[in-house]
Amino acid sequence: MNVWRDIPVLSNSSVSMRDPKRVEQILTSMRNAGASTLQVISDFDMTLTRFACNGKRCPTSHNILDNSKLISEDCKAKLKNLLDTYYPIEIDSTRSVEEKLPLMVEWWTKAHELLVQQKIIKDRLALVVRESEAKLRDGYQQFFDHLHQLSVPLLIFSAGIGDVLEEVIRQAGVFHPNVKVFSNYMDFDESGVLRAFKGELIHIYNKREGALLNTEHFKELQSRGNVLLLGDSLGDLNMADGVMDLQNILKIGYLNDKVDERRQSYLNSYDIILEKDETMDVPNAILQYIT
Ligand code: C5P
Ligand code: MG
Repeated sequence: MNVWRDIPVLSNSSVSMRDPKRVEQILTSMRNAGASTLQVISDFDMTLTRFACNGKRCPTSHNILDNSKLISEDCKAKLKNLLDTYYPIEIDSTRSVEEKLPLMVEWWTKAHELLVQQKIIKDRLALVVRESEAKLRDGYQQFFDHLHQLSVPLLIFSAGIGDVLEEVIRQAGVFHPNVKVFSNYMDFDESGVLRAFKGELIHIYNKREGALLNTEHFKELQSRGNVLLLGDSLGDLNMADGVMDLQNILKIGYLNDKVDERRQSYLNSYDIILEKDETMDVPNAILQYIT
């Protein structure tokens, strides 16, 4: 067995690893343990979906709504203003998580308040997603179908909007029964008008708390101690903190933006980083190898 020979995409120029030997050991252990011991935990926006297409940014689940006809022009301007203010903070590698956390809570809270004021109608969401420019990464079909065929649980853990992201994967035909979503869900009144968001807010820096709140889910998966984790933010590294009896974890991080500034911090915390890679080729090849 030779991991590098069997997974040639790992030699692509977009792929970097801090410690290839460790990656090799994890992949070998996971392959020996097999699909019945595996679970996949993935972020959604800019991890399962594309960051850019033809040089243009692709929308997050929030942006799908923000840019839609369900939002007034005045509100669109306010949401755009929030994005222009807070997104640079999100990706600023010179600020600490402690400094960013309250600002991220502020962003999510203000954006959700604005969305609620728009009296969004539940029945319109499907059309808005259909008309959006959201795109799952190339190779998504193989990724979702392969996990489904092997009955490997896929947890999508997102600080985006659950109702919107579910619609994206439903319309792509890959919302299989092995997929479970933790996210921010909309609360509609009896006439189907948005009145609030349900439960505790999930933002990019409290995925650890979110994971620990969902002990039931992880208890059901107790026999699956091998985890493949996919993310694009350093906050995504904590998505597996609720996993019980963890054996091995392989963390794959998409480095989409501010690549040079953030490379070192991503290398320090993810096992494999994928720079400006809009495909699922590496996760797919790894899944082929270990299952
Ligand atoms: O699914 P994921 O956890 O990646 O969703 C979070 C992403 O949504 C963040 O990376 C952030 O840039 C984006 N976001 C947004 N609009 C908001 C809040 C967050 O596009 N109002
Ligand atoms: Mg993301």
